[in-house]
Amino acid sequence: MTLETIRPFYAMEILGRAQAREADGHSVCHLEIGEPGGAPSPAVRAAVKACIDRPMGYTSAKGMRPLRERLARYYDERHGVAVDPERIMITMGSSSGFILSFLGAFPPGARIAVTRPGYPAYLNILSSLHMQVAEIPVRSETGWKPTVEDIETAYAQAPFDGFLLASPANPTGAVLDADELAQIVACCERLGVRFISDEIYHGLNYVGRDVSALETSSAPIVVNSFSKYYCMTGWRIGWLVLPEDLVRRVEMMAQSLFISASSVSQMAALAALDERTFYDARRDAYAQNRLLLARGLERLGFKGARPSDGAFYVYVDASPFTNDTMDFCIRLLEDTGVATTPGADFDRTDGHQYVRFSYAGTRETIEEAIERTERFLRPVGRYG
Ligand SMILES: Cc1ncc(COP(=O)(O)O)c(C=O)c1O
Repeated sequence: MTLETIRPFYAMEILGRAQAREADGHSVCHLEIGEPGGAPSPAVRAAVKACIDRPMGYTSAKGMRPLRERLARYYDERHGVAVDPERIMITMGSSSGFILSFLGAFPPGARIAVTRPGYPAYLNILSSLHMQVAEIPVRSETGWKPTVEDIETAYAQAPFDGFLLASPANPTGAVLDADELAQIVACCERLGVRFISDEIYHGLNYVGRDVSALETSSAPIVVNSFSKYYCMTGWRIGWLVLPEDLVRRVEMMAQSLFISASSVSQMAALAALDERTFYDARRDAYAQNRLLLARGLERLGFKGARPSDGAFYVYVDASPFTNDTMDFCIRLLEDTGVATTPGADFDRTDGHQYVRFSYAGTRETIEEAIERTERFLRPVGRYG
């Protein structure tokens, strides 16, 4: 990977076009981004109170101690693992967590494996840091999950230093169970590959319980965030759990790269961790949306439209209609105001055949989007 391989984040580009249409007075159904709506009022109130009561200065680079202690309790309660708060670092969303993890754990030019399809920023962050990428293809037939064999085969072809994996995954919603994750962690340890577990979609699992890589081993780096389950995208707040050997180095890097995460957002995040009812209601709404969207897309003729196991995305094969989903998504937006993300964002090889729909919005938006997409596909025999 070189700097020339940096590509636009197409979901954000489509969002820009969609917002321009809205500014021109057109209605848009936003199914292009994973934007879960606003934070709950206790978090907002905590932020306001913090601004009034105390000077919002820098915090330590690792973040406020009470928040790190609260997160340690989170691992104890949810995953039954004891984590020393000293291993926890508060970051500006998971995005800065990736930068710190890559820079702290690997030498210049290291090779990091990711799945294809996968979250597009992984490739762009690695390219920006002059690191290399090994792509491990995953297929719909195996539930879009990588197996130990997939990892070993890719490693035998060209060894890599790290493996970054999200479960639940973006764009497929694939979820690994405890056994599958444990096997992958063990495989990485056998190969001497550092495992990075992106757990940002924890809490949005519709088929079982969330499993953290920390349940298996203390060696992985865990990346998490308040953006998705906690509905705090714009607050730019997340966290890392680091293995002992990286804590001090990453802390020193963070001191100079970012100084600290936003202190207002840290106060809001602390309050968000104690909120349950609001988040359960959001999760229940996504669970209904997921069925509605998958059924709707299946009826329209998209292939592989099954309810995803986690996150809030459905990744479908649009080959019955097009072999160029970049063009398809732009026309769908311009003709009908339905904003979706072309598969090229997630897979530079086969993505031209796929589209990702997000169901983080409301039920009404999804119903409207399905109707409009049906009208878009019907007239020229693209549908039916
Ligand atoms: C898999 C995955 N990881 C990380 C992120 C980045 O999130 P943030 O920086 O807001 O925590 C996203 C955003 O969509 C994502 O889908």
